Amino acid sequence: MYKFPENFLWGAATSAPQSEGHGSKNGKTPTTWDKWYELSPDKFTPNQGPETTSNMYNMYKEDAKLMSDISMNSFRTSISWARLLPDGKTVNEEAVTFYREYFAELLKNNVKPVINLFHFDMPWWLMEKGGWEARESVDAFAFYAKTAFELFGDQVDTWATFNEPIVHVECGYLYGYHYPAIHDFKKAIQVGYNTIMAHTKAVAAYKELKQEGKIGIILNVSPCYSRGETEGDALAAKQADLLNTKSFLDPVVLGEFPVELKELLAANDLLPETVAGDKELIAENKVDFIGLNYYQPRRVQEPKEKLVGNATDPSDFYIPYIWPERKMNEYRGWEIYPEALYDVAIMMKEDYGNIPWFVSENGMGVAQEERFMDESGQIQDDYRIEFMMDHLKELHKGIEAGSNCFGYHTWTFIDCWSWLNGYTNRYGFYRMDLDNNFERTLKKSGIWFKELSENNGFN
Ligand code: BG6
Repeated sequence: MYKFPENFLWGAATSAPQSEGHGSKNGKTPTTWDKWYELSPDKFTPNQGPETTSNMYNMYKEDAKLMSDISMNSFRTSISWARLLPDGKTVNEEAVTFYREYFAELLKNNVKPVINLFHFDMPWWLMEKGGWEARESVDAFAFYAKTAFELFGDQVDTWATFNEPIVHVECGYLYGYHYPAIHDFKKAIQVGYNTIMAHTKAVAAYKELKQEGKIGIILNVSPCYSRGETEGDALAAKQADLLNTKSFLDPVVLGEFPVELKELLAANDLLPETVAGDKELIAENKVDFIGLNYYQPRRVQEPKEKLVGNATDPSDFYIPYIWPERKMNEYRGWEIYPEALYDVAIMMKEDYGNIPWFVSENGMGVAQEERFMDESGQIQDDYRIEFMMDHLKELHKGIEAGSNCFGYHTWTFIDCWSWLNGYTNRYGFYRMDLDNNFERTLKKSGIWFKELSENNGFN
């Protein structure tokens, strides 16, 4: 039997922009997603823009009950910044009523709300002023965070500032998947730095309010595994780790950026602009916990051409490596490597002072999942059960080795909209039928998860 620690969080995650719907209604102003869809619909899955969500704005009562039906004891979603503060300053009372009722409904169903503040959804009014490139965004975010703590702090005691902040850095400023879809390494580093400062000021605001809760951040860290054939491969993995993992984990948990990262950036003229006092603020405002999203490892090798200074892209430091022995999720195209979860657990224990952490996302996306529907209409997702079980075994091993993990959340509860992929890849415990009034149908994995949560483990 794989037993987990007492009071372990068993649940799932989604985000406001991926689940709520009602994009520009009820007082909400547009985000970069709404605008980008308007400007360039061809970037998105046809007819599946940001309005095409699972409609939790209207269905949260039914959904809280569905969570309780599969014994989820916790659930992470986010607040929409553009809904709560449509112009950045004025509180939208309709949003307050919505979120208060939503969180109350979760609590009534014994589902602990874990609430995140930013999940890739930059309000358009702030994007027009430069988004995360502009230092102004740091204080705008701190104001939003403080407003949310004051309004919902009596209902929510577990807060996260950002979900996967490296994603809006990479996807927006290097790889073209998120607005503004430009390629500029120096701006990417500045965006990452301003995000850390926004996070830090939000943590400071939370601590100042002295609410009885905890604040953290959700990061997507995967250990960086090197091809390991040359010295250059080892260096590539080290630099990938500095840029992708330590760049966020070190300042938020240890209170400072790694010296080697600063040296690497300086050598390539990539150091961000800072403001006097930033360093002290970072040092004084460490997180209480970390959420780690894990899907697949990062495998790297040295670039074909060696570069000295003037890097214009992370590929000047490392390039992807396809491990010949890899096991694939053939339905999504991602590697399956549960062992990394054990490595992450040990990394948190040994390199980050054994800070409390939880798996805040882990899951298996599957395209055309209707292929696995049985005659009764239920998706027989044994592949997902196997995926979760294999990851949980590794997590369990890490906990046995002393890692301070307090929960496991999957992505996701109900199949939900995904940025550019729409509904191509399904991840939920419940299938959602867009053509049939958003009907939710339990998958086999939901039944398995209920037992898992009720037994606090599995055989
Ligand atoms: C996570 C994000 O990284 O991956 C989610 O936090 C996202 O927002 C999820 O939806 C799954 O990725 P995708 O691209 O398959 O939807």
